[in-house]
This record gives sequence, C-alpha cells and structure tokens, in this order.
Amino acid sequence: MKFGGTSVATPAGWRVIAERIGAVVAQGKMPVVVHSALAGVSNALEDIGQRATEDSHYPLIDEVIAQHRQLGDAFGLSADELLADELGELRKISAGIALLGESSPRQRARLMALGERMASRLGFAALRSLDVDIAWLDARDVLRSVARLEQDDTAHYLNASCDVAHDPKLNARLAQHRALLTQGFVARDAEGETVVLGRGGSDTSASYFAALMDAERVEIWTDVAGMFSADPRRVPGAFVLKKLDYAEAQEIASTGARVLHPRCISPVRASGIPLHVRSTLAPNEPGTLISASPGSDDARLKAVSMRKNITLVSMETAGMWQQPGFLAQAFALFARYQLSIDLMSSSETSVTVSLDGGIGAQHPALVALSRELEAFCRVTLVTGCAAISLVGRRVRAILHELAPALDVFREFEVHLVSQAANDLNFTFVVNEEHGDKLVQRLHDLLIHRASQDDAVMGSRAVARSLEDSGGAWAPDAWWAKKREELLDLAPATTPLFVYDGTSTQHAARSLKALSSIDRLLYSTKANGHPELLRILAHCGVDLECVSSYELDHVRDACRELPASRFLLTPNFAPRREYEAARDAGVMMTIDNRFVLEAWPDVVADQEILLRVDPGQGRGHHKFVRTAGKRSKFGIPLDEVAQVEALARKAGARVVGLHAHKGSGIVDAATWAHTARTLAQAAATLPDVRTLNLGGGLGVPDTAADPSLDLDALDRHLASVRADHPHLDLWLEPGRYLVAASGVLLTRVTQIKHKDGVTFVGVNTGMNSLIRPALYGAHHLTVNLTRLNEPPTQRVDVVGPICESADVLGKARLLPTCAEGDVLLIANAGAYGRVMSSDYNHRPPGDEIVI
Ligand code: LLP
Repeated sequence: MKFGGTSVATPAGWRVIAERIGAVVAQGKMPVVVHSALAGVSNALEDIGQRATEDSHYPLIDEVIAQHRQLGDAFGLSADELLADELGELRKISAGIALLGESSPRQRARLMALGERMASRLGFAALRSLDVDIAWLDARDVLRSVARLEQDDTAHYLNASCDVAHDPKLNARLAQHRALLTQGFVARDAEGETVVLGRGGSDTSASYFAALMDAERVEIWTDVAGMFSADPRRVPGAFVLKKLDYAEAQEIASTGARVLHPRCISPVRASGIPLHVRSTLAPNEPGTLISASPGSDDARLKAVSMRKNITLVSMETAGMWQQPGFLAQAFALFARYQLSIDLMSSSETSVTVSLDGGIGAQHPALVALSRELEAFCRVTLVTGCAAISLVGRRVRAILHELAPALDVFREFEVHLVSQAANDLNFTFVVNEEHGDKLVQRLHDLLIHRASQDDAVMGSRAVARSLEDSGGAWAPDAWWAKKREELLDLAPATTPLFVYDGTSTQHAARSLKALSSIDRLLYSTKANGHPELLRILAHCGVDLECVSSYELDHVRDACRELPASRFLLTPNFAPRREYEAARDAGVMMTIDNRFVLEAWPDVVADQEILLRVDPGQGRGHHKFVRTAGKRSKFGIPLDEVAQVEALARKAGARVVGLHAHKGSGIVDAATWAHTARTLAQAAATLPDVRTLNLGGGLGVPDTAADPSLDLDALDRHLASVRADHPHLDLWLEPGRYLVAASGVLLTRVTQIKHKDGVTFVGVNTGMNSLIRPALYGAHHLTVNLTRLNEPPTQRVDVVGPICESADVLGKARLLPTCAEGDVLLIANAGAYGRVMSSDYNHRPPGDEIVI
C-alpha cells in the first residue's frame, strides 16, 4: 500500500493509514506500507541542495524541521529527538555543499532521501502510538539499484532503477512480521551508497516491493478517486476509469495523468500483480484496477490526456530524400546531448520530433544540439506546445469515430500528429494556449459511457473546487454582485434576458482606448436591444447592419444619428435592400461582383467598400468561419482588382476593403494578418483609404479559456499602421461588446435521474438560446438561488423543447437544485435573443437592460 505526501503530512492521514493496515490485517494478510516524504518536503530539499551556498537555504531547513515538529506534536512525539540523526545529516550535507560551492549528484541523492527517511521515523512512532502492530524496515536494505549502460552520475544517483526478481528468502524474512512500514523513493547501489528513484518514485518503490515479495496486489492510495478519462480539474464530467490493462494505464500515465507514475507499472506487469488506484478521501469508492485484463476488449477511446511545455524540433533538408543514415546522424546528436525524443513524424524532406517536457529554446543542450544540426539540415524550434493524446484500445480500428471530432482542429494549428506504434494512442501537438479547450472539446465529443454498468467508465468526477462551477468567476462577474436584484427580476414561470448596460459601456471603452483603431463599429446582429444600441452610440461606436431590416430597426432606435454613422454589409440580399441603403445615404459593403454587374445603377456615385475573402476562416466553430475556400462570403483575393474596375465602370468609388474571418477568435495577431492581406490587395487600388478588419473578437467561455489580449492586438495593429500610414483601420465587433453583459435567467421546472445521469429541467431551452445546440457552445451556468452553496452534483441542464439537442449545459457541476431555483446562464448577451424562436409556441425570454 503506497501513501503519498498529502496522506503522510497530516495526523488524519496517518489515522487513515492505521485504519487501512487494520483492515488488511483483519483479512489475514500482511500489508507493506510504502510512503513518500511529507508534502512539500521533497521540493524544499531540492531547493536546499541548489541554494546551499546561499544564506537563503537556512529558512528552508527551519521550515522542513517545523513541518515535522508539527506532525510530531499532534501525536505527542518530539520530532527533534526522533529525527536527531537525520536532521544532523541534513545540516552536515548542506554545510558540505556550501563549503565546496557546488553539489554532487551523490550529495543530492542523500539529501533527497532524507525526506522519506524523516517521514518514516515519525510515521512509525505515530503508528505505534495508535497501537498498530507494525515493524520498520529501511528500504535501502532491500532495494538494490542496477547500473545501466551509458549512465552518468546524475542518472545513477538521482534516477535509479532496481532489480526486482522475486526472492523467496527475502520474502520469508520479511513475512515474519504482521505488517511492515518502509520508505518509497530510496534504494542503495552496489557500493551501498544511497540513491533515489527519480520524482514520483514512491509508486515505483511500491511496485518493486510487490514484485520482490510476490504480493497479491498493490494499492496506490492518493487523494483522487482513481485514474480519469481526462484531468478532472480541467474537464468537468470526466469519468473514473474502472478497469485498465497495464499497457493502457502506462499510456495514460505517460501521456499526462499525474495520478500514477508511469514507471511503476512495468515491475508488477511482469509478474501479473494487479495495481489498484484508490482514494483516501473516498475509501469505499472502487477506484481504478490495473491488471492484465482490460475492462473490455472493444476498440474504444478511454482517455484524453495532455502534457504541456513541449518543444518541437523540426529538421528539414532536401538531402534527406532516399539518403540512408540521415536519421541515424541526427539522432546520434540527440543522444550525445541527452535529449530524449518522445513523438516523431517524418516526410521525405523533413522530420519533426518532440522533446520530453521542460526543455525550452534556451536550454543549453538544445542550443548546442541546434548548432550541430544546422551543419546538415535547417532547424526550426517551436516552443510552448501541448501534446494532446487520445488514448484507447485498438485506436486504428476507430478512426472513423474520430473523424467528426477532428473538425475542432480546423480552428487550431496542429504542429505534429503521431500515431503510437502500439495502437494505443493518437497524439496531436498544438499551441499550449489552446490545450485546455481542446481537451475539453475532444472529451465531450469522443468519450462516452456505453451504459450504466459500463465495464470501463465509472462515475463522473465531482471536482472539489468551484473552478468549473462558476465559483471562481462569481466574485468578479457583474451578475454575482447584482445577485439580489436579479433574483427579484426573475419571473415566476418565464425566462428573462437581463443586460447590464455598464458592462457594455466598459467593453466599448476598452476598445475605444486602442490607439491603432480609427473607427469602431458595433455589429448589431449580436444584440439589437435599443437601449444597448444607444449606449454604444453614445460611447462613439458606429453601427454596422447586415440587412435593411436591421438598418431600419437600428435607425429607429437611434433617430438622432446621421447616416454617416451606419454601415450595411449584406450577403446575397435582394436588390431592394441595397437601394434602401443608398436612398438613406448609408455606406455599403459589396461582397459579390454580381451586384456591380447586374445592378450598376444601385452603386452609381457611391463610395463603397469591397468585402474580400482573405483566404482562411477562423472562429469557435465551423459554422461561424466566414472566409476561405467554399465559403459564401467575400470576393476572392485574386479578383479584387477586376471587381474594383467593375465598380469604377458602374460609377462607384472603392474607398475601402473589408474582411471578416469569423467569430470567437482570441489570437491577437489575427486582425493584423487580415490587415496585411488587405493592404497588399489595396496596393494597386487608387482610392482605398480604409481597411475594415471585421469583428470576431472572442470572449472566454470558462475560467480556463484564454482571453483576447487587447494590448497585443493594439501592438500588432500599430505595426501595420506604421507600415501603411495612409490607411485607416476599422473594427466591427459584435460579441465582444455585449456577450458578457447579458445573462439568461430561467427557473428549474423538474428533476429526473435516469441511467446514472441527473437532468435538471428549466423553463426555456434552445428557443431562447440556440448556441449550445447549434455550435456545442459552452455557457457557464450557475444556480443563482444557491450561489453560495457548494456544488455537489454533476447534471445535464435541459430545456422543455421537443428536440434531443435541447441541452443548455452538459455535465455541469451545481448544488443540488430544487423546483423554482433560478439558474443563470452567462455570456448570453451576444447571439442569444437575436437567434431565438418561438418553436413549440414557447415564447423565448423577454429582455431588459439594467
Ligand atoms: N462583421 C461581419 C461582417 C460579421 O459577419 C460578423 C458576424 C461580425 C462583424 C461580428 O462578429 P463578432 O465580433 O460578433 O464575432 N451566431 C454566432 C456568431 C455569428 C457571427 C456572424 N457574423 C455565434 O453565436 O457565435
């Protein structure tokens, strides 16, 4: 039974250990407890080793001592007496390092080993004081490290592996005891020197002991409910994996799950000893059982995992084609600089590999490697990447199931794709900032539970933090501050959209403050509420419309505004709508040569903009990407000059170019790219003074999502302006100005438990807010009535509409809900009410501005 740092750091943790020992002894079996150092102590010891030459290491030593004293005190034990030897050694080693001015791997190993050794002495005394009949063993007297080929001192002392053939004599000796307490992480080499097993080594120690003693099973006790189908802190709704085979578990552990150290699997795998991951916080939960048998042999995905901080090295040369030995030459250099390669993909003229985490571009080994590689190929480094792995059984057999989910990659640049040779994973390397969102989406799309008694997927995670329940955002969000007012406003039986005028004003001011923007327009299609229109107009924001109906509505709401403050940007509208804009003196954007050829009189004597297709769409979903091949919007780049000539022929003057790539974009460089594309197209057009860069400015859906960096946006555009001083830059966002200002209030109608899922029904659904059904959009949802109660339940929030897609939120973490509670659906100010319907004759939410 292995217990980690959090279990051994507290008196309560040791009481749990005592209980578990008792339970196993009661079954007539002999438990061996392998434990880590107190939480935080290994890090402190590492710091002490690094800072031993500076005075700043003394407080660290004091802290380590204080932590052990505190634990001892709880059991009436004196840590100073019990740990006299170890504390003496700690002082001696750090003084030795200080004297020499540097530390050797040998010293560092001895220093690190002290963490487990101190915890062990104290823990043993604590267990005795709890009347546990247990013997103590120095793990170093049993675990012997083996020398590996080409191992340097660091690997030898700090990343050791042990020999673990089953040893009947040892077994007979150890088995004399009722129970045994020993340390993880530590061992000795053939010379009797202390070595350690590398971080996470306590799991591995437990496996070594199990293999040596031919144990019935290994239990890894931790503070989460087992291994999950995704990191439960990032993915609400991740499932506990009930059963995995060794290879799958190894794959999940090595592709990111931190519950279990990947190295601990192979020692038990060889002898077929099952390994059971269990939670000290929920000792009655089944946890994850890892053995030779997978829960089922079906080809299916079991987890989406992620590693961050990945660096890619891309090597390119035409000389590689059909040249035997290129890879051998390149890889020999990786070996020389001790850089371990993880993923790889190759083509005829290039090879890209990823390095195991934490090797940044400035890492001395990588700098030296690049220099040497440059001698025979071109080297490009991409840092700050995340590797996202889809892990499962016989992955190649389910490629067709992955296909629909791969659509999410349309929006994110993929640097590398790799399919594991063992058919257990598919890995994509993307920019780190997109990692969390991608994991969440891929998990939603690909990981399912077949039925309630699914052999693999167990219960869903209930995160202990408020992170994904809105709690983390609540204190800052306007709606949390105005909770009482909103609760009073919520109608008894109908939904209501509430918009906070001040939030819209703030959003407008933050964009107006960008010095690189000459004109800010609001794309009124996002929300046409007259009061919001007036607030924006008052902030100096002009108004962009997509139809003549919208134009009529907006002009009606803002009667005092002159025609020059509006813009019409239609797409496949009938002739009449262009005429209406012309007659009203409103400038328009033309996005099809047809308009100029078929209705030249409509544009005669007008100053117009041309909408260009910049070639590539961006955005949060394929439906909102409005550029690129096969998109119905815009004039192809290579036709712009021709179309401008057509306009001139019709008597119009093209004074600007426009492009809108799509909606919900958070990459701050996007609009500068658009601007440069347009500036290039404008180079031959004599009258162009303006580039309208469209909207699309994204807002985060969850606390984990990246937000758009406005300063960076401004900097990017300022550099465009510096290069093209004669061009004005316009932006026309919709969402950014109104999304967060709006919430949808709805009341709980009914609750249902079915097939392990809890459904919370509310009085409106896709008739008020179609975005979740249409785009799979995530809208943060909180129970406003119980905002201060802890979230305890995973639920699907569903509406009353007769469609299976009528789900407002999947697997949301909420407090237990009751009929009549007010749920608040956040970020509903953009594309909410404007896209609603009265489907099922059910009126959508009314709207008010506060
Ligand atoms: N300009 C043009 C020409 C547009 O077509 C749009 C949006 C915008 C500006 C404003 O884009 P924004 O800043 O709001 O992203 N219903 C979808 C969004 C569709 C946007 C269509 N065009 C959604 O709910 O996400």
